[in-house]
Amino acid sequence: MEFTLSDEQRQLQQLARDFARKEIMPIAAEYDQKEELPWQVVEKAFEVGLLNVGIPEHAGGIGLGMLDECLVGEEIAYGCMGIFTVLMASELGITPILVGGTEEQQKRFLGPLTEKAGLAAFALSEPNNGSDAAAMGTTAVLDGDEWVINGTKMWISNGGMAELTVVFATTDKQGGHKATVALVVPKDAPGFSYNKIKHKMGQRASLTSELVFENVRVPKENQLGGLGDGFKIAMKTLDKTRVPVAAGSVGIARRALDESVKYSKEREAFGKPISNFQAIQFKLAEMAMGIETGRLMWQKAAWLVDQGQPHGYESAIAKAYCSEMAFDAANEAIQVHGGYGYVGEYPVEKLLRDSKLNQIYEGTNEIQRVVIARNLLK
Ligand code: CAA
Ligand code: FAD
Repeated sequence: MEFTLSDEQRQLQQLARDFARKEIMPIAAEYDQKEELPWQVVEKAFEVGLLNVGIPEHAGGIGLGMLDECLVGEEIAYGCMGIFTVLMASELGITPILVGGTEEQQKRFLGPLTEKAGLAAFALSEPNNGSDAAAMGTTAVLDGDEWVINGTKMWISNGGMAELTVVFATTDKQGGHKATVALVVPKDAPGFSYNKIKHKMGQRASLTSELVFENVRVPKENQLGGLGDGFKIAMKTLDKTRVPVAAGSVGIARRALDESVKYSKEREAFGKPISNFQAIQFKLAEMAMGIETGRLMWQKAAWLVDQGQPHGYESAIAKAYCSEMAFDAANEAIQVHGGYGYVGEYPVEKLLRDSKLNQIYEGTNEIQRVVIARNLLK
């Protein structure tokens, strides 16, 4: 067993840490308030090599493994979970192409994302079905050499702004998951439009959209895997990408702890810093215990992904545990800050708003427990 990061990993972690402190933290509150995606951060991430890091070398990328991707993710989320979601939803959009695409498709679709700053998106959820993903109502009908897509996708991160979107659709609504297909849709496809979803509780620097498909045509060459593979490609993707959500959650918790340590040393009550009170010290200790436990969980799950070993059970455990731990840490950080924690003057109220989404997206934590229990009972 090896708990030491390599020199390259330490450098990568430091690069992401510096990036978060220099490029993200100074503007995070502003873009949260404006509910706007900071495009300049995406461009700078591209320039320093922190965007779309999962694109393999044969497609022109740097091909980082999951452990490396998560090291980056923990640091970015420390700076802002909303901006984490912009960058990581792009990795999510890339992953089905790696899971189900041929080498030629990987070069064709992912190559352009290595040449200039651009995002990918993953469109599975719909207005009427999120958890029950196989019940999708967006249709794909083959017309000659083209797929014709009709329907609506909901809650899509980077939706409409992404250069490419992997869309999951059904060829027969009675056919369940065996009638699903995964299709790559370019941003400029005629009939493809989007509506930005406003007034989110948190992660407001990320773009979330409803996507509308009206007779959108894509060539058969944009189909990933075989007919009927769509649902399984989505599931295999999520088994991997739930790990960065766990790592990002640890980043949120670390920020909650650092802010709490700092404030508790500065704030005085009853003639001494509140850090002197054991009630406050115990909150800090609980946060630290959660962070250490959570990091071990995402590291193990990421290691399994990188080893090519089964990882769905471990990634579900890491995602559920870390997102709940982050929410608790943010909640306790507000408590440590007292009344000042309840307003935007300190970053802790944003941490709570941001962390809530981690319990919902990439599969709710109830669905993670479904996955965990099915593994236990099979
Ligand atoms: N890997 C490979 N195959 C899998 C699989 C996996 N992880 N999970 C299921 N399958 C296969 C099964 O073996 C089965 O295949 P066969 O019929 O050939 O035996 C088939 O898929 C159907 O499996 P289930 O009957 O188990 O499927 P289900 O309909 O009961 O659903 C579920 C299972 C786990 C609940 C699934 O629907 C699920 O994960 N739902 C949550 C969806 C989700 O996570 N959405 C996230 C959207 S992305 C997002 O949120 C991103 C963001 O914010 C940035
Ligand atoms: P529902 O499925 O309607 O669930 C409602 C409640 O019922 C939840 O508590 C759920 O856990 C519970 N429930 C449902 N089924 C079960 C069950 N079998 N057992 C126990 N409890 C159950 N999706 C994408 O495809 N791509 C994205 O990029 C994306 N980004 C998102 C960004 C944001 C900001 C948000 C809010 C969502 C995003 N999503 C995305 C969608 C997200 O994955 C779904 O919201 C999520 O999977 C839940 O689906 P739902 O909202 O339809 O809830």
